[in-house]
Amino acid sequence: MRKKLVAGNWKMHGGLQANAALLDQIADGLPGVACDVLVCVPFPYLSQVAERLVDSRVALGAQNVSEHAAGAFTGEVSAFMLAELGCSFVIVGHSERRALYGESDLVVAHKCQAVLAAGMQPVLCVGETLAEREAGETLAVVARQLHVVIDCVGVESFARMVVAYEPVWAIGTGLTASPAQAEAVHAAIRLQFAGLDSVVAEGLRILYGGSVKPQNALELFAQSNIDGGLIGGAALVADDFLAICRAAN
Ligand code: 13P
Repeated sequence: MRKKLVAGNWKMHGGLQANAALLDQIADGLPGVACDVLVCVPFPYLSQVAERLVDSRVALGAQNVSEHAAGAFTGEVSAFMLAELGCSFVIVGHSERRALYGESDLVVAHKCQAVLAAGMQPVLCVGETLAEREAGETLAVVARQLHVVIDCVGVESFARMVVAYEPVWAIGTGLTASPAQAEAVHAAIRLQFAGLDSVVAEGLRILYGGSVKPQNALELFAQSNIDGGLIGGAALVADDFLAICRAAN
């Protein structure tokens, strides 16, 4: 039985005071939450959030990482640095990184490799654009995005990874994939892994992301291959985030 995971992706939002207030509110609501909980915050706030999460069951994650270990890469942040600051997860290959910063499948794969080498878990994001869905390419796109990473890190590494299916057209748009649409892709992802390693496939947590709200979380999380969520906008509102976490109970 896979334990559900609800991860908040704060994206480029926050501030010292707002973060502190949000984390306090989340901490207050945690006794009612049974699933694993993760918050992925902007780099400058990792230390602040790590400090506030000491002795809490909320895990800390980053939203991006360099594929390089060290060197002349101005503005980049290595996996080692993230691990040292207390991260246990790193979002890799978010569609915003792929679309706005040109991250290719191969770069995403190398980033996963760097995260694994530093002892953290990549939260590998995959998902199709609206044009790809309309062209009937959803499953092929997702399979290709996964295949490049599997080729690079090996299927066995997915025992220490999380996959997040985030249809690009559902991110921040208020359009959610229907539970059936999401479940179809999640089932296909698990099937892809089952063809390579049945134990890894059975244990792999596959999160859904894209306009998850308290109103739709319960039905999404009830699908047999949906193991939690990667939450954007609703992760910035403590009551909504906690309600989504409780939906995963
Ligand atoms: P929204 O929940 O705001 O649609 O964002 C989803 C997302 O991109 C999480 O990584």
